[in-house]
Amino acid sequence: MKIFVTGGAGFIGSNFIRYTLGCKKGYRVVNYDKLTYAGNLANLQSVSDDPNYSFVRGDICDAAAVEAAMQGCAAVVHFAAESHVDRSIYEPAPVIQTNVTGTFIMLQIARKLGIERFVHISTDEVYGDMALGAFADEDSKLEPSSPYSASKAASDLLVRSYFRTYGFPGIITRSSNNYGPYQFPEKFLPLMISNALDGKPLPIYGDGKQQRDWLHVEDNCRGVLAVLEKGRVGEAYNIGGTDVEENIDVARRLLKLTGRSESLLSYVKDRPGHDRRYALRCRKMEQELGWTPKISLEDGLRQTIEWYKNNGEWLAAVRAGDYLTYYDQYYVNRDSSLHAISTGTKISD
Ligand code: NAD
Ligand code: DAU
Repeated sequence: MKIFVTGGAGFIGSNFIRYTLGCKKGYRVVNYDKLTYAGNLANLQSVSDDPNYSFVRGDICDAAAVEAAMQGCAAVVHFAAESHVDRSIYEPAPVIQTNVTGTFIMLQIARKLGIERFVHISTDEVYGDMALGAFADEDSKLEPSSPYSASKAASDLLVRSYFRTYGFPGIITRSSNNYGPYQFPEKFLPLMISNALDGKPLPIYGDGKQQRDWLHVEDNCRGVLAVLEKGRVGEAYNIGGTDVEENIDVARRLLKLTGRSESLLSYVKDRPGHDRRYALRCRKMEQELGWTPKISLEDGLRQTIEWYKNNGEWLAAVRAGDYLTYYDQYYVNRDSSLHAISTGTKISD
């Protein structure tokens, strides 16, 4: 089977490609990626010479380029997105363009070319803030809070509409917070790990008592592959991890695992509109597809810390250049950046 993977140079997409080529001998993968700040071909060095792998640089918003690259593929796994909530708050336009318009274009071309299965990668954030003790299942209401999660909910609804209206073979996965190797250090865990290893402060938003459901990326990749092969079209599947934990507890765990002091914890101004809790019920994955997460947060954190320790060159390369400007805006000048958002001016003004 020839699969068209979008966003395959990003964190989850690159893990998915390496995982799939590693365990599915008859599969061929075309990786279609724009290579934004988040896309990095170094994530795919180990498969770059694999005859079953090919790369095409392109934008999912460019219909002609998508159509040319998707020719001959039987299935699509659509990861490409602007994936960071904070960036979506500071600058929503590219998020809406890629996540909503880009997904629309993907659906149009996939329908035109008669794609047999289209797996749309979504997120638990579409369900919005969950009450303490509550869990979202696939029929829960969509109540997104950020421009990012609203754009993902919009794209989910487009996929659903294409199934209902055109009988299009779309399937949606909604996973929780992924972590693991090759994650860009703007996200909570790689940022905390890299700062802890450097002895730098760990910026905790608000009171740190927000809860997230942590899923090792390899568990997610196994889940996405199960959905691609056996999921029912027109359905959504929640993919959640083994642990729902408060951010502050996760930060404390990793300080312990890296042998650093809790004095590195640094409470900073909260993210606007910050959801307090995400938590998923994943009965469909378990009962229909026989999938459960296998990697505990403790084991996953240990492995991930080791990975960042052993891949200093990769980390140094992604933390150079634009990342330094990003870090200054979001952390060093956090108060004035948040002020710029609340007054509707540009961060740079
Ligand atoms: P990422 O930011 O690491 O990677 C995104 C990739 O998409 C990059 O390689 C980037 O170059 C590419 N891309 C961005 N815009 C593009 C465009 N217009 N055309 C082509 N390629 C483009 O993201 P990730 O964390 O790997 O997330 C992948 C998917 O999974 C996203 O759809 C995200 O919404 C979803 N998701 C992520 C998580 C998580 O915890 N990271 C959890 C649930 C769902
Ligand atoms: O839940 C799935 C989602 O997980 C995905 O859809 C998104 O693509 C992915 O980015 C992630 O979104 P979050 O907003 O949950 O992830 P992030 O890593 O940005 O933040 C995790 C939690 O940690 C959140 O409560 C905010 C908090 N946080 C984050 C950063 C970057 C901090 O306290 N300090 C930080 O510096």
